Amino acid sequence: MIRLNKISKYYNLDGYNKLQVLNDISVDIKEGRITVFIGKSGCGKTTLLKIIAGLLKPSHGSLSFKDRNKIKQALNIGMVFQDFSLFPWMNIKENIEFGLKIKNTPHSERNKIVSYYLDLIGLKKYENLYPNCLSYGMKQRVAIARTFATDPDIILMDEPFSSLDVVTKYNMHDFILKIQHREKKTIVFVTHDIEEAVYLGDDVYVLGKVPTQVKSYIKINLPYKGMNIRFSQEFNKIKKRLIEEMMTV
Ligand SMILES: Nc1ncnc2c1ncn2[C@@H]1O[C@H](COP(=O)(O)OP(=O)(O)OP(=O)(O)O)[C@@H](O)[C@H]1O
Ligand SMILES: [Mg+2]
Repeated sequence: MIRLNKISKYYNLDGYNKLQVLNDISVDIKEGRITVFIGKSGCGKTTLLKIIAGLLKPSHGSLSFKDRNKIKQALNIGMVFQDFSLFPWMNIKENIEFGLKIKNTPHSERNKIVSYYLDLIGLKKYENLYPNCLSYGMKQRVAIARTFATDPDIILMDEPFSSLDVVTKYNMHDFILKIQHREKKTIVFVTHDIEEAVYLGDDVYVLGKVPTQVKSYIKINLPYKGMNIRFSQEFNKIKKRLIEEMMTV
């Protein structure tokens, strides 16, 4: 769906010095699958996501977009940022509704979609609360619902669960897989968490150190995803392989 073709990125540090963060990254992001980029802190994951989102320009290389066999200039992209970026002056319902209003979705359809997502994230009762009244995990669910509600062609997620306790994180993983099962979105997810990569990913790319290249690719074909798979031999075999890849970055 998106082809990253020899993407490199340099940042200008001052008038003279440049930092090369990404080096010649070529990857095909496939429709309806979860593509995970895993790499250590500072290796350029957010930079890469911002390039895919069109928020940053690559220094070299190009992106091409294809939607059901049509070449497109651009895709509708939704992004869940590292800090969620909810609007503090809007309640939960208004936050989820925001993108739909921007898209001029008619009122009745908007209500239906918002109601569907409030149900899905289990926050219907709280729809009138403002972000400052929500726990961290609740804010995350709102941010995710807000992004999915606009029905983007592709959803980019930047370490959305990195500061959660393990149980809440596991619940969020199942929440994402549940939505993914229903909605079949194309998702690009970046993380430094190995177990998260194995659990969520269909296609996993290991990023090296700056200037970052793709170090390896692992296709994950687990028979089902549910709590018990985390203890299975297959899961732990892939996890071990990823740990070895990450240790030798
Ligand atoms: N606007 C910028 N100007 C200069 N350097 C930058 C800029 N943005 C990021 N960098 C540098 O690029 C490198 C990669 O940053 P980036 O935020 O993409 O990494 P990351 O993998 O997302 O890190 P983390 O896991 O900590 O979120 C870092 O060395 C960072 O200091
Ligand atoms: Mg980052």
